[in-house]
Amino acid sequence: MSAAGTRVAVVTGGAGTLGAAIGARLASDGFEVTLFDIDGEAVAAAARRLSELTGREVAGWRVDVGDAGAVHDAVSRITGRGGRLDCLVNNAAVNLRGALAGQAPQDWDAMMSVNVRGPMLLCQAALPWWRRNGWGRVINLGSRTWLGGGPTGYVTSKAAVVGLTRTLAVELGPLGVTVNAVAPSMVATPFTRGGRSDAEFDGFMRRHLAMTPLGRLARPEDVADAVAFLAGDQAGFITGEVLHVCGGAQLAPSA
Ligand SMILES: NC(=O)c1ccc[n+]([C@@H]2O[C@H](COP(=O)([O-])OP(=O)(O)OC[C@H]3O[C@@H](n4cnc5c(N)ncnc54)[C@H](O)[C@@H]3O)[C@@H](O)[C@H]2O)c1
Repeated sequence: MSAAGTRVAVVTGGAGTLGAAIGARLASDGFEVTLFDIDGEAVAAAARRLSELTGREVAGWRVDVGDAGAVHDAVSRITGRGGRLDCLVNNAAVNLRGALAGQAPQDWDAMMSVNVRGPMLLCQAALPWWRRNGWGRVINLGSRTWLGGGPTGYVTSKAAVVGLTRTLAVELGPLGVTVNAVAPSMVATPFTRGGRSDAEFDGFMRRHLAMTPLGRLARPEDVADAVAFLAGDQAGFITGEVLHVCGGAQLAPSA
């Protein structure tokens, strides 16, 4: 049960690098945080780590964001506990890399299911609460790649996240809900490494550094800071925006 006045946050993909960093930051900022992730063991472990780190109780539940029934049940469980879901961070994603020639249709569908359908389902499930309470924050994790080239399905899904962000900002604004996207450039995580060898990953990172005016890769904390800003009261008049957390790499040609 959430304490009266305590804001409640859900972070999907909470067992991953950025999800855990965002969860830690929101918990430190006073949110009651629940992590959702398809990996039940990893999300339980992440929640325990975050509880120890922040001194606040963080929960971790196994939820597949592409499964409409599971999402509905999990969001009902959240709103049923304390009657609220103030901040929704749609962070879960998969990147099944491939150029057009090698794009397997089932990989395409999997990316659309997690990266695009997932955020839509989460918002749909939270809608009754927002209608009742008239306050909410949605932060969708995009990616700098939406501006240019990259793996076909992944880039398309992240461009769709921007479309979803903008149209939901219009639809949910009258309910007092802001909807924004945070679009990071490369953070050195298992997600970005994918199946690359050490040498390939090293070359990939160097190309990113060369196109980044601020001269370093993004850190998970950079992304968490941006999410925390958009989740707070100070960002209350900002909606439908894409906040690039890229050190200026969004201004450069793709690596
Ligand atoms: N790492 C980067 O450099 C980078 C750059 C730009 C954008 N992003 C975006 O940031 C977000 C997080 O990236 P990350 O690097 O932390 O990735 P990650 O792989 O560490 O975390 C992603 C998490 O999502 C979970 N997940 C996958 N499918 C799911 C499903 N169906 N339901 C619920 N959870 C599911 C995974 O189990 C994993 O824990 C993603 O949206 C990604 O597109 C990352």
